[in-house]
Amino acid sequence: MKSTTKEKIAVIGSGYVGLVTGACFAEIGHQVICIDNNEEKVANLKQGKIPIYEPGLSPLILKNVKRKRLIFSDSVKEGVKNSKAIFIAVGTPPRAKGEADLSAIEDVAEEVAKYMDSYKLIIQKSTVPIATGDWVESTVRMFKKKHAKFDIASNPEFLREGSAISDFMNPDRIVIGVETKRAREILSRIYKPIKGKMIFTDVKSAELIKHASNSFLAMKISFINSLSRICDASGANIDKVSQGLGMDKRIGKDFLKASLGYGGFCFPKDLAAFINICERLGYNPELLKATAKVNEQQKEFFLRKIKKALWNISGKKIAVLGLSFKPNTDDIRLSPAINIIRMLKREGAKIAVFDPKAMEKARQELSGVDYCDNAYEAIKDADCLVLATDWPQFGRLDLKRVKRLLKRPIVVDGRNMFDPANMEKLGFRYSSIGRS
Ligand code: UGA
Repeated sequence: MKSTTKEKIAVIGSGYVGLVTGACFAEIGHQVICIDNNEEKVANLKQGKIPIYEPGLSPLILKNVKRKRLIFSDSVKEGVKNSKAIFIAVGTPPRAKGEADLSAIEDVAEEVAKYMDSYKLIIQKSTVPIATGDWVESTVRMFKKKHAKFDIASNPEFLREGSAISDFMNPDRIVIGVETKRAREILSRIYKPIKGKMIFTDVKSAELIKHASNSFLAMKISFINSLSRICDASGANIDKVSQGLGMDKRIGKDFLKASLGYGGFCFPKDLAAFINICERLGYNPELLKATAKVNEQQKEFFLRKIKKALWNISGKKIAVLGLSFKPNTDDIRLSPAINIIRMLKREGAKIAVFDPKAMEKARQELSGVDYCDNAYEAIKDADCLVLATDWPQFGRLDLKRVKRLLKRPIVVDGRNMFDPANMEKLGFRYSSIGRS
């Protein structure tokens, strides 16, 4: 991929979104400075230590640092002085009522404004409520020098953790919310090397597209999980139902995999924030509320499945495989696996866990569980095996060995990783989601 015009870009906020965005912009030829106010993080990044696990990210960063296209700094001033396009990718954590905390964005807007001495395009990448662009604009206007010109844009990201780089490089669409021709031209140039349809909207519509996309996907999962309940109650098979449903192009097969519930820092948080926005705008979003409620119920339903399989939970050893909220990431934020472990602990179970990547992060949050070196060690002498995250390697477990190691041959699968008929043949008492 070759860039026709090299742009000078600053990305403020070096979390998942900021690092992936910065590294990918550098990879397609731009000159990028990634900024974070956490000095330790920046010092580590400068030494090539990447704070998150994301497949392919570390080599991509190292390669572009070596090419001198990517640098790190803790100074917003340095970023603003050296760039025309400034992407804001700082966190918007949830407040008590679900609304997004936008104070980091406000702080960044103020700081950027102070250092602006020529035209800048300030682009919002973080997931934000509608009209955040207006707030950023008025903040910048308030703190900037009189002569400094600027535009505001919204360019939401649709990256999935675990496949963020390929999602960035091969997007279904690039959403660009702008109000001026100049802003549109700069962003078109920046994204030119990437094949992907660009859609240009006003800033507010771009902000809304992001919320709408995440909640629609969450709704698809809650829909299939509702169907899994009907399957369990009626004897239908959710895998077949999902397949038949997804073959209709209007519906699509993606995000129709039944599970113990969705998690991660995006869907639960964004849905809560979107509900909050709707209510503030005077609309009661019943559909969004039901989506969130079904997801909570699904986790409780999964706990009931474990209870049903084990009879009494107190004092029993339960092996839980998977801690991250999905495979290929070490992210445990709002992970259904962690949720289930906490519920089981409250019921008095002894928990042994294994996850290929998320053990270190889990150790910082979750105490009183036995962290094992591999899946088999966790399974040894357990009264039940619970599959909580669909890491592909769990699907390749030696099931005969698993059967020998377990004290009772009980497997409760929250990700439908195994074939029920085969599990029965191997002598397991196997229960999964919507395939009773
Ligand atoms: C999600 C969106 O997919 C991205 O497009 C978006 O950019 C991102 O949020 C964000 O806003 O930053 P992510 O949270 O990384 O990405 O993960 P997903 O792959 O969407 O999975 C979310 C959860 O849904 C996981 O717990 C996963 O196991 C679950 N899931 C997903 C299901 O239970 N069933 C499915 O069919 C698909």
